[in-house]
Amino acid sequence: MAEQSAGTAELPTAEDTKALGAKLGALLRAGDVVVLSGPLGAGKTVLAKGIAEAMDVDGPVTSPTFVLARVHRARRSGAPAMIHVDMYRLLDHAGADLLGELDSLDLDTDLADAVVVVEWGEGLVERLSDRHLDIRLERAAETEVRTAIWRWSRP
Ligand SMILES: Nc1ncnc2c1ncn2[C@@H]1O[C@H](COP(=O)(O)OP(=O)(O)OP(=O)(O)O)[C@@H](O)[C@H]1O
Ligand SMILES: [Mg+2]
Repeated sequence: MAEQSAGTAELPTAEDTKALGAKLGALLRAGDVVVLSGPLGAGKTVLAKGIAEAMDVDGPVTSPTFVLARVHRARRSGAPAMIHVDMYRLLDHAGADLLGELDSLDLDTDLADAVVVVEWGEGLVERLSDRHLDIRLERAAETEVRTAIWRWSRP
């Protein structure tokens, strides 16, 4: 599958951010880890909604603030589930054992059979897979416009 290894986009509205998620989400495969970074309210969850739409998984995708992770199952059999993770609450815990945490959640889904989409996990989740899509969202003061910068890394 041809794919650009990196890109940037200017995103005037939340709909544009969701559409970027859908565009990139259509290229995801089981075993990929998506690392969403950027400040509070940047639009990471909005982008995850677009990924979910393209992957055709059960919704709704919401901010998983009070749970570490949520599994969104594929509607088509054989297609990968999306596991949406928010590590904000783990940030304080130096060296948090994400794999252990995910294991203890008993997600009933093998990570290698799913696409894992992680907010606030940069620097911690890359070890889950050697196949990553890093997406950084930036926001400037006094405007709704977001900027996205992304990069695929797949062996
Ligand atoms: N261009 C834009 N792109 C994305 N979201 C936008 C944009 N303009 C306005 N918004 C609004 O900003 C908010 C982004 O919220 P969202 O929950 O996606 O952020 P987040 O990065 O996940 O934050 P958190 O770090 O708290 O999880 C939404 O309310 C959305 O409607
Ligand atoms: Mg969020």
